[in-house]
Amino acid sequence: MCGIVGYIGPKEKKEILLEGLQELEYRGYDSAGIAIIEGDKLNNYKAIGKLENLREKTKAYKSEGFGISIGHTRWATHGKPTELNAHPHLGAYSYVVHNGIIENYQELKVELQAEGVSFLSQTDTETIVHLFEKYYNKSNDAFPAFEETIRRLEGAYATLLITEAAPDTIFFAKNGSPMLIGFDKDEVYFASSDTPIIGKATEVYYLEDGEYGYVKEGTVHLFDSNGSKSFTKQALTADKVSAQKDGYRFFMEKEIYEQSHVMGDTMIGRVLDNSINFEELDENFFEGINAIKICACGTSYHSALTSAYLFERISKVRCDIEIASEFRYKEPLLTKDTLFITISQSGETADTLEALKMAKRAGLKSLSICNVDNSSIVRESDAAILTRAGIEKGVASTKAFATQMMVLWMLTLYVGQEKKSISKEVLHKEIDAMLRTPKALVVTDELHAKLQRLSKRYLHGHGFFFIGRDIFFPLALEGALKLKEISYLHAEGYPAGEMKHGPIALADSELFTIALMPKTMHYDKIKSNVEELSARDATILAISPEPFDLADDFIQTTYDSHPMLEFFEMMVVTQLLALEISVRLGNDVDMPRNLAKSVTVE
Ligand code: G6P
Repeated sequence: MCGIVGYIGPKEKKEILLEGLQELEYRGYDSAGIAIIEGDKLNNYKAIGKLENLREKTKAYKSEGFGISIGHTRWATHGKPTELNAHPHLGAYSYVVHNGIIENYQELKVELQAEGVSFLSQTDTETIVHLFEKYYNKSNDAFPAFEETIRRLEGAYATLLITEAAPDTIFFAKNGSPMLIGFDKDEVYFASSDTPIIGKATEVYYLEDGEYGYVKEGTVHLFDSNGSKSFTKQALTADKVSAQKDGYRFFMEKEIYEQSHVMGDTMIGRVLDNSINFEELDENFFEGINAIKICACGTSYHSALTSAYLFERISKVRCDIEIASEFRYKEPLLTKDTLFITISQSGETADTLEALKMAKRAGLKSLSICNVDNSSIVRESDAAILTRAGIEKGVASTKAFATQMMVLWMLTLYVGQEKKSISKEVLHKEIDAMLRTPKALVVTDELHAKLQRLSKRYLHGHGFFFIGRDIFFPLALEGALKLKEISYLHAEGYPAGEMKHGPIALADSELFTIALMPKTMHYDKIKSNVEELSARDATILAISPEPFDLADDFIQTTYDSHPMLEFFEMMVVTQLLALEISVRLGNDVDMPRNLAKSVTVE
C-alpha cells in the first residue's frame, strides 16, 4: 500500500528517497514519485509501474547540497494508476504526498474549483496542496496556512508538504495513517514505517493521531489541537533487517522455508517445560474475562477462525470471530467481560485498527497479536504479543500466518491455565506437540520437487475447491486465498461437509478439489465427502498421511498424533502448491497484481 519517505538535510536526496521507497516496495504499489527543492530549484519525477522506472527516469539527476525532499509509492484508491495520479501532487509552487483517504475531498474540490482552481488528477490528495496554496496566498505565512489546511481535512492521512514559499521546511501531519520522524544529528527523515530509515536515522518519534508540525534547521516543531507540544525520541535499531532473497527465487519461497526456524523464535521464553508463559500479559490480565472476540482481515482472519475451535475446545472460553470491515458497521453488542483480540501481520490494517478503537471506546480490554512492534495496532492495544516472524515481504502471507497460529495455540493453553480449565495431562500433551512443530514445517527437497512437477496439471479448469473440516476448514480457506492471490485462478475454501449443499453441482473433471484429509480429525467423515466428489468425476488432489485410492494426485504427509502438527504440515503443502502454480503461470509471486501488503485504507 502507499508509502511515504521524506528527508531534509545535505545528503544526496534522490538516493535517500529511492532507497527508502525500495524498502517499502514489498507493500504493493502501482506508481511512484519524488519532489525535491534545493535553493530555488524544484524537481519532480513520477513513473508508473515499478520503482526501476522512476530510477531510470532520474538517472541523470543529482541532488547534492542542502534541500528538502519527499517521495511516495502509490496504491491507487481514487483514480487509475497513471502518472498524473501519482504523488507528489503539485499546486502552483508546492508539492504534497499523502497516505490514507480524505473523505471530504469531493466537497473541498467543488469549493476550490468554484474559486478557479483546476485539478490535474482524480485523487483526493490533490485537494491538500490547493487548499494550502489558497490559504498561503491569503496570509503569506506557510505554517498557519498548513494548519488551516489540516483543520479542513476529514478522514485518514499521513501527509508531507513542501513549498517554494518555505524552501527549508517540511510540513507534516498525521491522523489515522502511520508516520514517524527519524533523527540523525541535524538531519531529519520521515517515513510511513521504520524500514526506510533503519541504518540512516538513529532515533525516532512515532507520531500520534492529530499531531502535525514542521521541521526547519534540524528542529521539529510539533503541535496538536492543544497547541505546541514536546516529545521524546526513542532509539531506532541499527539492524538493517532488509530481507534478502538469499538464493531463493522469491521472498514468498524464502519465507515458506523460514517457517520451521521462526516457529522456534515464536516459542522462546513462552513454551516452558510444564506451562506457557507470556511476559507481555500481567498476572490478572484474564480476570473478569468470560469471552473472547477476535477481529482481523485476510490471512489474519483465517488464523483467528482456526483459533476459535481451540479456544472453545481447549480453554472452554466462548470465542467469536469477526471480519474487521464487517464488525465496524454492524453495531455489535459489546460487553466488558469480553477480551477484544486483533490479529495483524502489519499492525497497520485500517479496518482492524478502527475495529480496535471501537472496542476500546466500548470499554473492552484489548490484546493484539502482531508481527510489527510499535505499529499502530500494537500501540493502541492494552497488551500485545509479537509473533516474531521477522520481516515478511511476500504479499501473500505465509510465515506470519504460521506464527500467528503458534501464538494463538499457546494463548489457548495460557487461558486454560489461567482459568484452570485445562488438565495437567492435556497441557503436557499440547506442549509436547508444540515443541515438535518446527520439524513439521521443514520443506524437504522431495516435497518441493513433487509439487513443482504436479503443479503443471493445475493451470486451467474452472475452479479450485479446498475442503476440510474443523480447524482444517479455515486452513482450506487460507489455502484457497494463497492460490487466488498469486495465481489469479478462482479458488474457494469450503467446509467439506457443506459441499453437498450446493457447490457439488459444479463437480466435473475440470473442478479441482484439494482435499485436506488429516488422520487425527474426522478422517472417515471427510473421506466420504471426497468420495462424493470423486463419484461426480471431480479431479482430486488429496493431502493426507493415509493413501487414498480415489485421488488423482496424492501428497503424503506424516502420520502424527496431534492435529496441529498435521495442520502445519498441510499448510506448507498448500503454500508450495500456490507458489509453483503461480511460477508456471509466469506471475509476479511477490507482488501480485492489485494487492498490497499492508492495507491502510478502509
Ligand atoms: C492485505 C494483505 C493480506 C493480509 C491482509 C491483512 O490484504 O495482502 O495478505 O492478510 O492485508 O493484513 P494484516 O497486516 O492486518 O495481517
